[in-house]
Amino acid sequence: MMMTRGGNRLVSSMFKVGPRYLSTATTWTLINENVRCKSTLALGDKEQEEKQAVGGGPTKNEKGINSYWGLEPTKVTKEGGAEWKWTCFRPWEAYKADLSIDLKKHHAPVTLLDKMAYWTVKTLRWPTDLLFQRRYGCRAMMLETVAAVPGMVGGMLLHCKSLRRFEHSGGWIKALLEEAENERMHLMTFMEVAKPRWYERALVFAVQGVFFNAYFLGYIISPKFAHRMVGYLEEEAIHSYTEFIKELDNGSIENVRAPAIAIDYWRLSPDSTLRDVVMVVRADEAHHRDVNHFASDIHYQGRQLREAPAPLGYH
Ligand SMILES: [Fe+2]
Ligand SMILES: [Fe+2]
Repeated sequence: MMMTRGGNRLVSSMFKVGPRYLSTATTWTLINENVRCKSTLALGDKEQEEKQAVGGGPTKNEKGINSYWGLEPTKVTKEGGAEWKWTCFRPWEAYKADLSIDLKKHHAPVTLLDKMAYWTVKTLRWPTDLLFQRRYGCRAMMLETVAAVPGMVGGMLLHCKSLRRFEHSGGWIKALLEEAENERMHLMTFMEVAKPRWYERALVFAVQGVFFNAYFLGYIISPKFAHRMVGYLEEEAIHSYTEFIKELDNGSIENVRAPAIAIDYWRLSPDSTLRDVVMVVRADEAHHRDVNHFASDIHYQGRQLREAPAPLGYH
């Protein structure tokens, strides 16, 4: 690879994009060039394609970021040597979902707290059904904006607790943050197959404002309840994705090609479809269900999460 530095411009191994030669390794550092990354979209939606700054690179009409700090983006390649085009996740964060996971497992609510958690989730499902009905793509996308909150809040609170008490976390901070990141990747995936309407975007703002704070308070008061509620939320997510698959199978929803981001994140075959993506997302939800019910069970036994090693390494 040739590396020369000329003014604010770096040039390394070159490849051609349209009429212009660009650097694979230093796209961010190019200035005064209207640079964009290749499309991530598998759906051929040109309008959406134009709006996407895939993998965090600059969009068509944006300038690259100039920096004199010497922090250059690392060039990452796939196993076969092809360029890795995502900056939002790296090859070592990609994984194969465990499709053998039991989707039918259910924690029967016995205690009052469990019943409260169960009925809270069941009650929340009613307005969701009313709003989205059978628009499962949009429903999935909107629900992922909520699903990615608990892991981040729980992980953050455990992080602060670890600092306050000078104690280890048992790996639970990482496990919960991984869950949040995984849920966010579900959102990044579904964004490619569904477009939120303006009032749905407004709804996400409102729901996030309420839900973040409610879950934050709930986790402080009773992590036992908070994790149980997420466990039931994940059970509902499994149900929703099963319905999604049924709609794909009976042709009500077109089984389009899988978004490129999903193919790389879940290490799917290049000819995968939306159905394959929903299958792996559903397996992820089943894993989140188990982790959160387990976390609640630990609290039920009067123990702290750090006393039971966190289930790591799935994602
Ligand atoms: Fe999810
Ligand atoms: Fe989940």
